Amino acid sequence: MIITDIGGLDLQYKLECTVMTNILQLKNVYAGLEKKELLHGISLNIKPGETHVLMGPNGAGKSTLGHIIMGNPSYEITDGQILFEGEDITELSSDKRARKGIFLSFQSPIEVPGITLSNFLRSVIESDPDRHAEILNFKDRLEENMKLLKMDPKYAKRDLNVGFSGGEKKKAEILQLLMLNPKLAILDETDSGLDVDAMKTVLLGIKQFQDDKTHAMIIITHNTKIAEIIHFDKIHVLVDGKIAKSGGPEIIDEINNSGFEKYLADKK
Ligand SMILES: Nc1ncnc2c1ncn2[C@@H]1O[C@H](COP(=O)(O)OP(=O)(O)OP(=O)(O)O)[C@@H](O)[C@H]1O
Ligand SMILES: [Mg+2]
Repeated sequence: MIITDIGGLDLQYKLECTVMTNILQLKNVYAGLEKKELLHGISLNIKPGETHVLMGPNGAGKSTLGHIIMGNPSYEITDGQILFEGEDITELSSDKRARKGIFLSFQSPIEVPGITLSNFLRSVIESDPDRHAEILNFKDRLEENMKLLKMDPKYAKRDLNVGFSGGEKKKAEILQLLMLNPKLAILDETDSGLDVDAMKTVLLGIKQFQDDKTHAMIIITHNTKIAEIIHFDKIHVLVDGKIAKSGGPEIIDEINNSGFEKYLADKK
């Protein structure tokens, strides 16, 4: 009897440890808009230190997945669970998720007139009582990170994304990533629309974030090259709101050779 109890406890402990080792866990998530289901049963486990790449045809639901992890209220989760560091955040608001350390860089960053890039970052940090110490060296860190990203310091004083070119907006997203230093970053096509030099700079920013092994990342991209350049642990192919295949670099070759047709065909 005692042995059974100990065995039960041991199993419980092991189960809890398994859950805790995931920074993000999606358990059979169904989600979409009020009248349209867009994701049909997504399961995903991401551990600290891991980078996962998400690819798939246009309209597959990749951005939707990013939004539901971030808690965008426009989307509804109808079934399943999202756990962050073992805690159920399925019902949590997006600002609380951001506080916990989830960051989403938008595919199309929005322009925010009336607040400068610098003030935006400062106010996000200031609004979190746990981060007040960071305000002391905020200016130095901002300068340092803008230098790394080869951004003109003048951009810090410009309204957030207002009049920024497509590439400048993407760099500003990476600057936010480095300044806010989340635990989990979801980058939605942050590599698209960049010239060769800007791409190299953005990759430097991504690499700096990855160097901290407590961080995890989901990179949504259409560019198989990026997956050849950056280190990643897993790649998932999303087709019609379902993960059609997960694996390693061999999937990059499959996509390069036959696009997404194979996965569409496999699904039918
Ligand atoms: N607010 C919305 N209103 C209507 N349809 C929407 C809305 N948001 C998403 N959708 C639809 O959901 C589907 C998935 O969109 P999503 O943006 O997630 O695709 P994606 O995989 O990111 O595509 P892309 O590679 O083109 O960025 C698309 O068919 C899209 O039209
Ligand atoms: Mg998208």
